[in-house]
Amino acid sequence: MEPEKASAVLVLIASLIGIVGAPDSFIGTGSILSATGNTAWLSISGKFAFGFYKEGSGFAVGINFFPKPNSNHSTVIWTADRDHQPIPSNANLTFGNEGLVLHLDEGDRIITDLYDGTLQLAYASMQDSGNFIVYDMYRNMAWQTFDNPTDTLMAGQEIPMGHNLISSVSANNQSSGRFRLAMQRDGNVVLYPVNTPETGTHAYWALGTRGYDGLVLDHEGSLRLTDLNSGGQPFFAWLNSSQAMSVHFLRLEADGYLRIYSRNQSGLMMVSAQYPADNNNNNNKCFIKGACGLNSYCNSTGNGDAHCLCFPGYVYIDPSRVVMGCERNFTRWSCEAVNASTSNVSAFYNISRLLNITWPDDNYNSSTVKSEHECSDACFRDCNCYAALFLPSEKLCNKQRYPFQYGIALSDQDEPTVAFFKVGLAEQKNQLSAKPVGSENLRVPGTVPLVLSLLLTATFAVVLDFLIFFLCRYRMGTYRRLCESMETGLAKAMAPRFFSYKQLMDATDGYKEEIGEGKYGKVFKGLLPTGDAGTPIAVKKLKNVREKFRNELKSIGRVHHRNLVRLLGFCHEGSDWILVYEYMSRGSLADLIFQSHEAPPSWKQRVSIAMDVARGLYYLHEGCDVAIIHGDIKPDNVLIGDDGIAKIGDLGLAKHLQPGNHITYTRSRGTPGYKAPDWAKPCDWVSPKVDVVSFGVLLLELLCLKKFCLLLELDGEFNLASWAYKFLKGQTKWQVPGEDVDAEELKEMMKVALWCLHGSPEKRPSMYDVVMMLGRKKIVEFPPVPLLDWNVRADTGRTPMAEEAERG
Ligand SMILES: *[C@@H]1O[C@H](CO)[C@@H](O)[C@H](O)[C@H]1NC(C)=O
Ligand SMILES: *[C@@H]1O[C@H](CO)[C@@H](O)[C@H](O)[C@H]1NC(C)=O
Ligand SMILES: *[C@@H]1O[C@H](CO)[C@@H](O)[C@H](O)[C@H]1NC(C)=O
Ligand SMILES: *[C@@H]1O[C@H](CO)[C@@H](O)[C@H](O)[C@H]1NC(C)=O
Ligand SMILES: *[C@@H]1O[C@H](CO)[C@@H](O)[C@H](O)[C@H]1NC(C)=O
Ligand SMILES: *[C@@H]1O[C@H](CO)[C@@H](O)[C@H](O)[C@H]1NC(C)=O
Ligand SMILES: *[C@@H]1O[C@H](CO)[C@@H](O)[C@H](O)[C@H]1NC(C)=O
Ligand SMILES: *[C@@H]1O[C@H](CO)[C@@H](O)[C@H](O)[C@H]1NC(C)=O
Ligand SMILES: *[C@@H]1O[C@H](CO)[C@@H](O)[C@H](O)[C@H]1NC(C)=O
Ligand SMILES: *[C@@H]1O[C@H](CO)[C@@H](O)[C@H](O)[C@H]1NC(C)=O
Ligand SMILES: *[C@@H]1O[C@H](CO)[C@@H](O)[C@H](O)[C@H]1NC(C)=O
Ligand SMILES: *[C@@H]1O[C@H](CO)[C@@H](O)[C@H](O)[C@H]1NC(C)=O
Repeated sequence: MEPEKASAVLVLIASLIGIVGAPDSFIGTGSILSATGNTAWLSISGKFAFGFYKEGSGFAVGINFFPKPNSNHSTVIWTADRDHQPIPSNANLTFGNEGLVLHLDEGDRIITDLYDGTLQLAYASMQDSGNFIVYDMYRNMAWQTFDNPTDTLMAGQEIPMGHNLISSVSANNQSSGRFRLAMQRDGNVVLYPVNTPETGTHAYWALGTRGYDGLVLDHEGSLRLTDLNSGGQPFFAWLNSSQAMSVHFLRLEADGYLRIYSRNQSGLMMVSAQYPADNNNNNNKCFIKGACGLNSYCNSTGNGDAHCLCFPGYVYIDPSRVVMGCERNFTRWSCEAVNASTSNVSAFYNISRLLNITWPDDNYNSSTVKSEHECSDACFRDCNCYAALFLPSEKLCNKQRYPFQYGIALSDQDEPTVAFFKVGLAEQKNQLSAKPVGSENLRVPGTVPLVLSLLLTATFAVVLDFLIFFLCRYRMGTYRRLCESMETGLAKAMAPRFFSYKQLMDATDGYKEEIGEGKYGKVFKGLLPTGDAGTPIAVKKLKNVREKFRNELKSIGRVHHRNLVRLLGFCHEGSDWILVYEYMSRGSLADLIFQSHEAPPSWKQRVSIAMDVARGLYYLHEGCDVAIIHGDIKPDNVLIGDDGIAKIGDLGLAKHLQPGNHITYTRSRGTPGYKAPDWAKPCDWVSPKVDVVSFGVLLLELLCLKKFCLLLELDGEFNLASWAYKFLKGQTKWQVPGEDVDAEELKEMMKVALWCLHGSPEKRPSMYDVVMMLGRKKIVEFPPVPLLDWNVRADTGRTPMAEEAERG
């Protein structure tokens, strides 16, 4: 591995598990801080302080960088519960077994959202990286501020895919502000105003990248994109400032700019990069979308300042904070009222002109007109039009969408424009008592709850990702996605954790009891060293296959389902890549159905296993917003627990689809014999339907207790699919052990299996259909003749597909 790659991997792993730097300061349980007495816990160097700092009329709890009282050097890099009211001066903060708890007159508030009480916390540490970490008694990280960023990213900290930074209100107010940095699921890094959808209309700056999983600021001050699939390759080095001993951090500022700062030993802070860069738009702050709120426009003064001005007929929502936007200062009449009135429109509205402004393309109707007057008239008569923009050079008339957003004043160099605004008359001259629209009167719908929604967005952005990845769980029986809100405690409990090499050495008693060996490494039995100690675990030592380690961590670490083997933790030290799973006492399905020395599972068990595997796979494909293709479904990768419940394991070959995509381009994976014919080429587009084929093969094997590629000819057939078809046609008799087989059920399930093996992916059922059909909730039609490709050649006893795969 090249050194650069290696260091990127380390940064990646380190930020993944939060061990940037050695633990330094030590804060034992029982430690206490108060807003007025001992206010903070310092890092070893004293550069970082966790605790109370002054904000507004009270205090907040957070991390201060260069905490010097009465000095302008101090910088808040993290705040707990940033949108809460200021904390009164009589508050206390304790670190105990429940984590960090803020004691207020009105009650306790827990800052560390740890999961259940089984976790024994031991100490916390304010590190010189700017990370505050809480450890359990086994020195495993239980919580860290790096996982919950506000507006600042310290060197070594990562924003994972789907997460955001949200700017603060101002340098002195850390509440959620108006801008958002999104590490999007498509791998792009984009700046938006908060509360807007992730579309180009709202973006004001983007990297334009695709397919990355996270954003890291490295210790040299360069921003890098990480890609778990390709080994955390450093990608995007933005700048080259390697000022020794400087600490770098990135912040999404209250004004919407993204800035990277370097701070040297004496606390001097320098901006080393800014996005969007000033030279791109002549230092015009108005290019930041959302610099001014709705129904206002931004006018740049040229010296780097910008003003937010209301359109004619509109007034500031909050004159003390003009950036919040404007609201209508006139009555809006319903179209029916205006129409029904005996007077014409001019009894209700007048038209105001405003010169030299523009909007980014956001009109609902654009047409060519002969004159300025025609444009103004078109808007005047259109009941839904409240503003139109006339471009004299092109004689174009754009009717603008309401409420108006991102309006900007043009400079002298731009083509002049004329905008028309429909403004309500102070006194209606209409004779009828027409009613205003609804009861909203003078307020613009949507602007009133703006502050509220700003707050909501901040919390929502963080919670949303949790919901999507951890909480979109499958509700048994109803086949619906269940996205429970606010179950973050549960989510944390399900997240895999870090084990040290020594812990796992002890847990497995020196890797004594080997319970399996696969293509990628050996599996050992052990006993869980932490939490519910004594719980059996399976410890998989991977043979130098980093990619698989990461892939598995990424796939199974993010999903949780009754029918998926749970990943409890992981370990990476030196060349060792180790994964820790729940122990599945009854071994693999392959052992269960192909080992002749054991009694085969009963029919009932087989049916229930089939259903378990189908459900697990359905969850992977459709349970969450990112579809996961398993890629290697076979009886060896299905494990059975004590309770007889089957779970899918080995997600090392899994492939994630981008949200909204149904196919992906990937190297062919999987095991010959279980692999879909449409995945035979070395590189191909695949969809989750490749798993459906593998499931079909597995299902037939489970039903018949035979290998799909029959070792001995059965009724003239060489594979189970052809034989099953013959059986369904009544051309052969049942020859499978187990007397308790329900013939009707068997036939139904075989039909499902044969549909799964359909040659064309579109004709194959989805796993949802499979679950429905196996559960007898959907009628299964008679399947077509199995695909020829599945026939085994008489001379080699293998399928052509298997042979091709082996050759490739
Ligand atoms: C910070 O800003 C928020 C939202 O604008 C406001 O509600 C809060 O009162 C402000 N806090 C302080 C201390 O000024
Ligand atoms: C902090 O900044 C303010 C103005 O921004 C200035 O008046 C004050 O003297 C500064 N304080 C220190 C300690 O530098
Ligand atoms: C904070 O601690 C002090 C002294 O330990 C105590 O007197 C005070 O009541 C505590 N305040 C709260 C809000 O718990
Ligand atoms: C960054 O620094 C390296 C040497 O430290 C130099 O070779 C490289 O050209 C620099 N890149 C830029 C963009 O300045
Ligand atoms: C920090 O930077 C300032 C300005 O460049 C310089 O005067 C000062 O000596 C630096 N301090 C350290 C410790 O490098
Ligand atoms: C207004 O009234 C005319 C006829 O009186 C009718 O054709 C038209 O659809 C009405 N428009 C609206 C918006 O109600
Ligand atoms: C609308 O009414 C005004 C007076 O209220 C009148 O001057 C104008 O001609 C009318 N326009 C039409 C098209 O009826
Ligand atoms: C409509 O606006 C124009 C100027 O924009 C003004 O001269 C005129 O008096 C207004 N009409 C009414 C009825 O207010
Ligand atoms: C736009 O408005 C004009 C009249 O104002 C109308 O003739 C045209 O059909 C509209 N176009 C669309 C696409 O609605
Ligand atoms: C923008 O501000 C300048 C003065 O700084 C002023 O001359 C100009 O008219 C303003 N433009 C608009 C559209 O308000
Ligand atoms: C609008 O822009 C044109 C050309 O840039 C200029 O001549 C005119 O004075 C501007 N009008 C206003 C009101 O700023
Ligand atoms: C808002 O409307 C009221 C009454 O229509 C008027 O008196 C007031 O001047 C308007 N305010 C602004 C800023 O236009």
